[in-house]
Amino acid sequence: MSTVKRLLCIAASIPMISAHPPIPTRGNSFDWDSTRYLLAFGDSYTYVQGTHGYPNFSFIGDQLNFAYDAKTLLTNKIVQNQTGTAEGGPNWVEFLTKCGLQEGLTSPLHCERQLWDFAFAGADISVEHTPLHHNYTISLVNQIAQYKQYGHPVLSPKVNPTETLIAIWIGINDINDSAKYPVHFPTFYNDLMATLFDSVHVLYALGYRSYLFMNLPPLDRTPGNQATPTPSPNATQVSWFNGALQHHADGFAAANHDANVLVYDAHSVLSDIMDHPARYGVVNTTDFCAGYDQPDIEWNYEAYGCPSPVDTYFWFNSGHLTSHVHEKMVDDLERALKRWK
Ligand SMILES: *[C@@H]1O[C@H](CO)[C@@H](O)[C@H](O)[C@H]1NC(C)=O
Ligand SMILES: *[C@@H]1O[C@H](CO)[C@@H](O)[C@H](O)[C@H]1NC(C)=O
Ligand SMILES: *[C@@H]1O[C@H](CO)[C@@H](O)[C@H](O)[C@H]1NC(C)=O
Ligand SMILES: *[C@@H]1O[C@H](CO)[C@@H](O)[C@H](O)[C@H]1NC(C)=O
Ligand SMILES: *[C@@H]1O[C@H](CO)[C@@H](O)[C@H](O)[C@H]1NC(C)=O
Ligand SMILES: *[C@@H]1O[C@H](CO)[C@@H](O)[C@H](O)[C@H]1NC(C)=O
Repeated sequence: MSTVKRLLCIAASIPMISAHPPIPTRGNSFDWDSTRYLLAFGDSYTYVQGTHGYPNFSFIGDQLNFAYDAKTLLTNKIVQNQTGTAEGGPNWVEFLTKCGLQEGLTSPLHCERQLWDFAFAGADISVEHTPLHHNYTISLVNQIAQYKQYGHPVLSPKVNPTETLIAIWIGINDINDSAKYPVHFPTFYNDLMATLFDSVHVLYALGYRSYLFMNLPPLDRTPGNQATPTPSPNATQVSWFNGALQHHADGFAAANHDANVLVYDAHSVLSDIMDHPARYGVVNTTDFCAGYDQPDIEWNYEAYGCPSPVDTYFWFNSGHLTSHVHEKMVDDLERALKRWK
């Protein structure tokens, strides 16, 4: 079976097992080739460093410096270097847009497909459910509130909603932070999703109609979790979370017939890379290279006990994928976006 076939889960054509009535196919309004803007929200898997961002955490601002003006946003540049992302090189939104891929500084305004990235490293969905990692962390809910207040008024004259895709990848911190909470997890994850989709509605009310949601990677298979008989989160928790995401995305699509909603099954493609690493140029799926953050790691990996270069590893460190794995995933994601009509 081709990878793509198994990976796709398009809310607009819900499978028969769905609990609610099928949503009429309207489609046609989403076209990746004419999508000129990507607005991204999320955590360290998604954030890019900005020249006006919090070092190692954001493109722009932080929770304690929440406001920004038009000039700050429009003169901001994406930094691409070893510390420009949390994966040692370009991440998925950069591969997807090809904006900020080059070493050095890139203004999103100069990209053919502009990347406006409001993700914040270490973010969870909301303090309603889990505490902030730092007092400067901007939760997903606050990223969207901040965008509504300061970003949208500046970008909206140019960033036409019909040419914009909203990309959201969130939950990696939420599921880890809450893994041992004494709660009924299916209910807890459902509550997280209710909060997330309240914020998605804020974007919908601003006029955005196309939404890409990424589900959770196999976080039960991080190096730490592979080394223990009791992974935390475990595979069941990850599947509960992803089920809740799919359910809420389906509900959002059903309630808003003019919305284009895609839940991309990152879990499947990333599991496929782990299960068949050689097909993707990966040799190490079990561990990460201890010297991953060293300035000379690109050529001097053996000095850090790593038998092969970092870009042959699946895991960049204890919780992040390598830039190479982001790139391989995007090869598939891009095909999915082109088929999504
Ligand atoms: C950013 O992260 C890098 C790599 O971990 C570290 O060397 C650097 O000191 C950090 N920068 C700041 C400003 O904290
Ligand atoms: C990456 O670029 C930023 C901004 O120019 C700079 O502060 C940081 O030190 C650079 N990091 C590396 C590893 O070169
Ligand atoms: C944020 O946290 C830091 C470190 O814990 C502390 O020094 C600082 O006062 C806090 N800032 C605010 C505004 O709470
Ligand atoms: C995973 O964790 C959940 C929540 O603690 C628990 O209910 C479930 O039994 C665990 N599953 C496995 C396979 O250990
Ligand atoms: C995987 O990486 C770890 C840590 O660098 C290393 O000890 C191990 O030998 C590697 N395994 C393979 C198959 O390369
Ligand atoms: C998960 O949370 C634990 C603390 O609860 C932390 O030590 C660990 O680094 C986190 N793992 C990841 C992959 O972020």
